[in-house]
Amino acid sequence: MEVKTSLLDNMIGVGDMVLLEPLTEDSFIENLRNRFDHNEIYTYIGSVVISMNPYRSLPIFTPEKVEEYRNRNFYELSPHIYALADEAYRSLRDQDKDQCILITGESGAGKTEASKLVMSYVAAVCGKGQEVNKVKEQLLQSNPVLEAFGNAKTVRNDNSSRFGKYMDIEFDFKGDPVGGVISNYLLEKSRVVKQPRGERNFHIFYQLLSGASDDTLRKLKLDRDFSKYNYLSLDSANVNGLDDAANFRTVRNAMQIVGFMEDEVQSVLELVAAVLKLGNIEFKPESRSNGYDESRVKDKNDLKEMCELLGIEQSVLERAFSYRTVEAKLEKVSTTLNVSQAYYARDALAKNLYSRLFSWLVTRINESIKAQSKTRHKVMGVLDIYGFEIFEDGDNSFEQFIINYCNEKLQQIFIELTLREEQEEYIREDIEWTNIEYFNNAVICDLIENNQNGILAMLDEECLRPGTVTDITFLDKLNTVCAEHQHFESRLSKNSKFLTDHSLPHSCFRIQHYAGKVLYRVEGFMDKNNDLLYRDLSQAMYKANHKLIKQLFPEGNPAKVNLKRPPTAGFQFKHSVGTLMRNLQTKNPNYIRCVKPNDKKAPRIFTDSLVRHQVAYLGLMENVRVRRAGYAYRQAYEPCLERYKMLCKQTWPHWKGPTREGVEVLMADLQVSTEEFAYGNSKIFIRNPRTLFSLEEKRRGCLENLAALIQKIYRGWKCRTHFLLLKRSQVVVAAWYRRYAQQKKYTQIKSATIMVQSYSRGWKARKILRELKHQKRCEEAATTIAAYWHGTQARRELKRLKKEARRRHAVAVIWAYWLGLKVRREYRKFFRANAGRKIYSFIMQRLMQKYFLGLKRDLPSMSPIGGSWPTRPYRFLDTAHTELRSIFHHWRCKKYRSRFTDERKAVFEEKLQASEIFKDKKALYPSSVGQPFRGDYLEISKNPKYQKLSSAMDEKVLLADMVNKINRANGKGTARIFLLTKNNFVLADQKTGQVKASVPLPDLASISVSTQNDGFFALKLKEGSAGATKGDFLLSSEHLIEIITKLRRTGATAVNHNHLDIDISDEFLVQFKQDKVCVKFVQGAPKNGNGASCKRKNNRLLEVSVPSTA
Ligand SMILES: Nc1ncnc2c1ncn2[C@@H]1O[C@H](COP(=O)(O)OP(=O)(O)OP(=O)(O)O)[C@@H](O)[C@H]1O
Ligand SMILES: [Mg+2]
Repeated sequence: MEVKTSLLDNMIGVGDMVLLEPLTEDSFIENLRNRFDHNEIYTYIGSVVISMNPYRSLPIFTPEKVEEYRNRNFYELSPHIYALADEAYRSLRDQDKDQCILITGESGAGKTEASKLVMSYVAAVCGKGQEVNKVKEQLLQSNPVLEAFGNAKTVRNDNSSRFGKYMDIEFDFKGDPVGGVISNYLLEKSRVVKQPRGERNFHIFYQLLSGASDDTLRKLKLDRDFSKYNYLSLDSANVNGLDDAANFRTVRNAMQIVGFMEDEVQSVLELVAAVLKLGNIEFKPESRSNGYDESRVKDKNDLKEMCELLGIEQSVLERAFSYRTVEAKLEKVSTTLNVSQAYYARDALAKNLYSRLFSWLVTRINESIKAQSKTRHKVMGVLDIYGFEIFEDGDNSFEQFIINYCNEKLQQIFIELTLREEQEEYIREDIEWTNIEYFNNAVICDLIENNQNGILAMLDEECLRPGTVTDITFLDKLNTVCAEHQHFESRLSKNSKFLTDHSLPHSCFRIQHYAGKVLYRVEGFMDKNNDLLYRDLSQAMYKANHKLIKQLFPEGNPAKVNLKRPPTAGFQFKHSVGTLMRNLQTKNPNYIRCVKPNDKKAPRIFTDSLVRHQVAYLGLMENVRVRRAGYAYRQAYEPCLERYKMLCKQTWPHWKGPTREGVEVLMADLQVSTEEFAYGNSKIFIRNPRTLFSLEEKRRGCLENLAALIQKIYRGWKCRTHFLLLKRSQVVVAAWYRRYAQQKKYTQIKSATIMVQSYSRGWKARKILRELKHQKRCEEAATTIAAYWHGTQARRELKRLKKEARRRHAVAVIWAYWLGLKVRREYRKFFRANAGRKIYSFIMQRLMQKYFLGLKRDLPSMSPIGGSWPTRPYRFLDTAHTELRSIFHHWRCKKYRSRFTDERKAVFEEKLQASEIFKDKKALYPSSVGQPFRGDYLEISKNPKYQKLSSAMDEKVLLADMVNKINRANGKGTARIFLLTKNNFVLADQKTGQVKASVPLPDLASISVSTQNDGFFALKLKEGSAGATKGDFLLSSEHLIEIITKLRRTGATAVNHNHLDIDISDEFLVQFKQDKVCVKFVQGAPKNGNGASCKRKNNRLLEVSVPSTA
């Protein structure tokens, strides 16, 4: 929702001076000061904006502020220059009204800054687009160029505009800028040649010398040192906060954006350089024969350089500084110039050169920024012109006179336009027009500009008059012509009033301007009005070989010699002011009155007297009076009703009917006196600020009440909502609590009830049980008694029947029993009672059958070492299954055994015995398991080689093999044939077959072997036996296992033989003849193949090294 605001909200002092009560100069100044102290630099007088220079940057010119003021009504927000710019722009765009913004104020009051703010605001709010942006940029960038050439540091302002500027910005129907035209007024050209103390020449001179590159300066024949140039004042060449070098770059850049060609920029700089050079030309007198002094150029170097720069023939210019040619009709008279005349001519040339250059720049900028299309444009003019200038010590000269004349004219159109606007509004609103008393300054304008006897006309007349004319003759003339004028004062006028007025010197006249009295010194009036440049100089310039300079001095063209005097400065100014006024009159005016708060260029200082002075000469009080003459305040009905509707019951909170009626009801209800206001067509007009303030006062009171009411309702609502919330919560809490309590109570009651119930039920049940038990006992007793009784009866009867019918029915009964028995027997198999057993045995049969068949099918291999056995199908067969497995195994072992022949059986028995002896005891054993025991390895009976040996054996040879007999002396082996028979073992020579030893088995006491993988064994003989004389045998054989097994078996079966010991250890003793030698087995690295080797270590030790198996 848009919040409606008003200027009247949060005002500091009053935002609009029209509302000032009481209206006095003091209250006016006090209000300005009050607002200034609170950083409110803008104040309105109706639609006029007073702007105080803050001399510091305030945060009120941000893009956010632009947005805030955009499209808002003038009085909606606190006073701001943006509000005025927005109003002007919208009225131009939406109502097609051309606008002009008139900015006035004294030097340093902030006019130029204000004009820039207006331009930047309009640039920010108008349309966008490539073309539009280019135009905006060019318009904005024209400022730095003109400021460089037209502004200078003065004692009042470091960036003082030394020319008047009026700029028309042109817009198309959409409100987009399309171009512009700039007009300049009266450049203060005297500054070029001379500056007052503490002031500088135009900025461009300093900027050029500080900012141009060395190369550029060389081309322009300039030196960076300011002190080398007579035209540059030195005491304030450097200004604080002003960076000339950087500004030079800005200006060059701006010139480029505006559209200056590179050669044009160069030409402009050449002219600037030429002016500096010109200032350095000095003259010396040279006596002539006629007794007069003639001037001569002192040092020609500067002259030469200047001529080179501008392409002028040096001699021509030199001559122009020494002679002056006066042409009259057909005559040409040449007179010499003395030194002071030469200086005058030099300065006149410099001033003209510079001011014409400045005008050319304006024309050139206009060429660039002019609108492209010829269609009619809407125009917004911005006038930044010097305000009223009054030098206190009466040092006002021609320039001040001209400036003040311009301000008189502006005041005149201000009054005219304000009154016209006021009147138009009254007519538009249908309000009776009451004549307004105000001071009309037309009479002062007339004093100055009247064609017959105006001061300017007198001045021109005096300038043109032949004969001796001086400033004093001009004053005399004024004294005669204007003496009677009520606003003209002079000591020498016929008006006796001033004859004794010592504040009025003789060489001065005084004019009562609308803003106050100003004393003008006539000295220099004639000269400045004439603005003479000797024709010789303009012709010398025209002859220059420089495009721009030729263009600037067209009157120097000899082909167009014009003997008529050029128009005077006063005439030209009056003419341009006239054009300006006509221009402004066609537009809707908007005023910005700039006020300077102090002379120190410092922030936060408000000098009362200075402001009072400005308020006076800007005619601000007059402004307020004109504005307040009829009705001080007006407001459209709608915002008025909106603002004050709370003051009346009928209009609060909403008024349904037309707004005007609403306002009427409101005013009637408030009993405002009818003289105090009037109803216009769309606005209400309030005569007195007092009335408005009383309305505001009431509104404020009412707002406070409303605020209290809103607060009250809000608080009530808040409390009520809170209360309702609490209430609802309480109900919920209570409900939950009740439920909880009831639940608890219920469970208590329930458990109590159940307890009581269970007790009562128990008691009841026990009672019933007792009864039932009693009843049952009674019944049982009865039954028993009855049974006994019936039994007794039956037995008696039976006895009787038996007795009676035993014999009679005995056969029949027996027969019946017999038949019954028969029948039962026959049909028993059909009885269901036997079916289960049958089915069971049948199923069992089937299962067993299936099991056995499956077992048959899946029987494992017949190998006794086969470990597999089918899994059992049913758990109940567990025992049978295990039993069957063991049976099967035994059976297949039996089967396997039954396949053996006796020899094989013997072999196996031998193998079995070998295993008993050696398994897990000797490392050689595993390798012998796979080898069959062949016994006769030498095939002794078949081999003819052993025939003799074989025949020597009277028994069957059980084993014949080659062994090594170990020699005790060196541990080496000697091959021997080893034979085993049933009763002996024999060792024979391997080659001859001669028996070396034959030992009966009973003489063998024990056999020693090692635990290792070797074939050594010792056959130890019983002590005292026949064979024992030579000692034991230490042998080695590849078939050690077989030999020893067979020795043991055979030995065991031999006659008289006890058990044969076999000693398995890695160290044993062997008896060699008398000595016992220890045989020790050690593990060693394999040597000469894999066999073990025996070595004699000492007399008593033989070491057998067995290669390790790992
Ligand atoms: N709105 C502003 N905010 C901050 N500083 C300002 C403002 N207006 C003016 N100034 C300061 O005041 C100085 C003078 O302002 P400006 O040049 O606009 O004065 P002027 O009225 O144009 O004077 P002159 O008549 O000499 O040209 C500026 O250089 C700037 O420092
Ligand atoms: Mg200025």
